[in-house]
Amino acid sequence: MWRYLTAGESHGPGLTIIVDGVPAGVPVTEDTIAEDLRRRQGGYGRGGRMLIEKDRAELRGGVARGFTTGAPVAMWIENKDWANWKDKTPPPITVPRPGHADLSGALKFGHRDLRIVGERSSARETTARVAAGALAKAFLAELDIHVYSHIVAIGEVTAPSYDLEWSELFARAEASEVRCADAETTERMKARIDEAKKAGESLGGVFEVAAVGLPPGLGSYTQWDQKLDGLLAQAIMSINAIKGVEFGEGFAVARLPGTQAQDPIRWGDGRPMRSSNRAGGTEGGTTNGEPLILRGAMKPIATTVTRQDSVDLEKRENAQMEYQRSDVCAVPAAGVVGEAMVALVLAKVVSEKFGGDNVAETRAARDHFLAARGWLADLAQARS
Ligand SMILES: Cc1cc2nc3c(=O)[nH]c(=O)nc-3n(C[C@H](O)[C@H](O)[C@H](O)COP(=O)(O)O)c2cc1C
Repeated sequence: MWRYLTAGESHGPGLTIIVDGVPAGVPVTEDTIAEDLRRRQGGYGRGGRMLIEKDRAELRGGVARGFTTGAPVAMWIENKDWANWKDKTPPPITVPRPGHADLSGALKFGHRDLRIVGERSSARETTARVAAGALAKAFLAELDIHVYSHIVAIGEVTAPSYDLEWSELFARAEASEVRCADAETTERMKARIDEAKKAGESLGGVFEVAAVGLPPGLGSYTQWDQKLDGLLAQAIMSINAIKGVEFGEGFAVARLPGTQAQDPIRWGDGRPMRSSNRAGGTEGGTTNGEPLILRGAMKPIATTVTRQDSVDLEKRENAQMEYQRSDVCAVPAAGVVGEAMVALVLAKVVSEKFGGDNVAETRAARDHFLAARGWLADLAQARS
């Protein structure tokens, strides 16, 4: 069964990741993982840290000759910034930053230096998740399942809706500095980030993740903790600064009358088909054969050049938070983390449904299942 743990601090020596339950035979190299790490580091509006780090995950176990072996996969990502910190003893931080884990974490663990909290609660940890997610994507790709993301909004600047194949939409997003598939909106988003930076402000936004090629029947309606939408919502909400998740047309369908809010089913192409995908690919917590589509809403970056009110926990008096090097906007990066989280959840439910100690066995079980359900025509199309 796919499961993973991460360890390591933002300015410590590095990040450790162990992914267990990966079947043998998944092709993976440090270069393929590095590509997703590079994508997470990019995006207009990032802070100085991203100029220091050139993330690369070293594969330290579970991979031989370019393929997973079935043993736990161990990875190590060095923090280049460690060299700048290892011989320093910076003064303790006693003023918690609003919007960070500083206060809640200090109260929980009893730390008097809030730096200790921030070191682990920092979004640096999401680097480790992206490395694990790259592995999950490599596994899913062996089953013709692909996970994409793009940016829908930065602040109030919103992308238009698209009538494009997901692969095309994704290719356009990848060519944009804010990972937005529309060139004109990209320019407006960049200008909005410049404006926010000048004003000592920060911005949030919305990303969308799509997974295509999913067989129906992943997840389950039979028990609350097996519902795929529930598992995905938890995974997305666990990303730093994500404050909302919606599936398909999500909050908008809540305002529609019932006959306009579903996805009618018709017979076509040898299987039941949908003319719309308002549900975002799951019904009853189970994939229905349509693309999985979800969105994550990211709050504006909490650390702003403009000081915010807080307290000094040692002096027990009002104070203003100290500015620390920070992103102005990290929504494009959060979208890449969203892809990783979705891929990790999907890898787990695919393995639960189809099993297999070797990816060829997983594929054979999936093909058998699709044939039994009369869904194979679709699979052939996905591979063509
Ligand atoms: C990719 C990414 C980069 C982030 N960069 C920063 C940053 O530079 N400065 C900051 O204050 N918050 C940043 N955040 C958000 C904080 O990590 C997050 O708000 C904080 O840990 C508190 O968690 P919460 O907002 O989920 O409650 C980033 C989040 C993500 C996903």
